[in-house]
Amino acid sequence: MLAQAQGRLARLVEGDASRLPLRRASFDAVVAVWAVHLIGDLEALMSEVVRILRPGSRLLVVPSTPDIESNDLADIAFRFGKLLGRGWDRSWLLAPRLRAFGFELEGDVQTAVYEFDETPNQRADSIERRDWSSLWDVDALTWDRVVQPVVDDLRAMPRPDAQRACRHHHFLSVYSLTGKQ
Ligand SMILES: C[S@@+](CC[C@H](N)C(=O)[O-])C[C@H]1O[C@@H](n2cnc3c(N)ncnc32)[C@H](O)[C@@H]1O
Repeated sequence: MLAQAQGRLARLVEGDASRLPLRRASFDAVVAVWAVHLIGDLEALMSEVVRILRPGSRLLVVPSTPDIESNDLADIAFRFGKLLGRGWDRSWLLAPRLRAFGFELEGDVQTAVYEFDETPNQRADSIERRDWSSLWDVDALTWDRVVQPVVDDLRAMPRPDAQRACRHHHFLSVYSLTGKQ
């Protein structure tokens, strides 16, 4: 990701988001794109974000979970999402937790619509490879109970190698640092 950013940003610094190698009160904004859900310790992350921001700054979060348009593939593929806690970084779940750190939600802005084609078998393969972070630490019992039935249903769909048009709507959540907790 740092290699991807090279040339697009003036300055790059590598560091753990829960121990940022940056001075206190030195930024007006923090932008976290598909990142908050990967950093397990929200308390550590937000303490650092608050430390490096000046009062009145903004935190911009692109959550990991988009709104997914219904089709026969998506209706099966995302069935386990809620059961595995997917989508906790969407604003209606994250905003109440960020209030404790002094952030108020200003609103959500719809950003990109991501369009792609996928077959049921391709989706089943990527679930089995655990491509998404919500699947990384699913234990064997939960896998058998919650995930495997989704894989089986995807493979049993009619024409499992035929592509379906998928549309995902992505968001940007805007929070302002009020300092009130
Ligand atoms: C899904 S990628 C998103 C990258 C980029 N923001 C983008 O929009 O394409 C998530 C990134 O978060 C990084 N990451 C995961 N845990 C992290 C942590 N504790 N501190 C800093 N970065 C972390 C990963 O290395 C990866 O580059």
